[in-house]
Amino acid sequence: MMNNETITPEQIQAAATAVRQKTNYQPQIGLVLGSGLSGLADAIENPDIIPYHDIPHWPTSTVPGHSGRLVIGSLEGKTVLVQQGRAHYYEGYSPAQITLPVRVMHALGVKTVILTNAAGGINRSFTPGDIMLISDHLNFVGIAGHNPLRGPNDDSIGPRFPDMTLAYDPELRQLARKTAESLGITLQEGVYAYVAGPSFETPAELRFLHTIGADAVGMSTVPSVIVARHAGIRVLGISTITNKAILHPTPEDMVTHEEVLETGKIVVPRLTALIRGILRQL
Ligand code: HPA
Repeated sequence: MMNNETITPEQIQAAATAVRQKTNYQPQIGLVLGSGLSGLADAIENPDIIPYHDIPHWPTSTVPGHSGRLVIGSLEGKTVLVQQGRAHYYEGYSPAQITLPVRVMHALGVKTVILTNAAGGINRSFTPGDIMLISDHLNFVGIAGHNPLRGPNDDSIGPRFPDMTLAYDPELRQLARKTAESLGITLQEGVYAYVAGPSFETPAELRFLHTIGADAVGMSTVPSVIVARHAGIRVLGISTITNKAILHPTPEDMVTHEEVLETGKIVVPRLTALIRGILRQL
């Protein structure tokens, strides 16, 4: 387990150089695939595939359901860099380390990222299998200190105090809504609460999150959003609701990672169609 709190400009450049040496593509769009969603990378045409262990400083995931490679190629006429599998804070990495991939995307010239994840549905009108557009977030890990931007600020990338008012790009959200409608895909929308994990939330914690306005809860994405916004990258966030958050348990209730992965797989075709549709119009 590594324990580097900060990532240096030299480390970012070393990782970006390694990627450049292994592909001739110049990606415009980054796509991060969450738990159970890695099948979406199969849609990429003529891909260059780079295992994470071939890229210096790149954090690798140890979690089942997360592959560890970059798939770079074209999708709907756009050049896309797909991060197939991500590392998480709960695996022992620092917030800066888990966001190195977004730093590298920025160094490679990516201007837009689409971040996907698996999440528990807190909003009572959500059911497993739903797709939720992220409108805003609650950063439980970061708000009290574990922010990926903690440490020296690189003013050449972005400001010390980056704005998060419209972190989830309103135009991209509108495009996603329109695309979903034209494809007959139901799209929920709401606030994503980021928690550290790896233990799932207790019912009391979930009732608390419900009370303060969370619609979904998960263990990823938000650090990447912060780093992307810091660098001026536009963000579209999409959660797949893989399980119902249990606010009032009965004796048989529980949540498992297997359930999360199974539901994720069911959503992949619909999510693929939605993302293809969005890319077509970008
Ligand atoms: N809680 C936290 N993270 C998750 C969940 C959940 O219920 N489902 C998928 N990721």
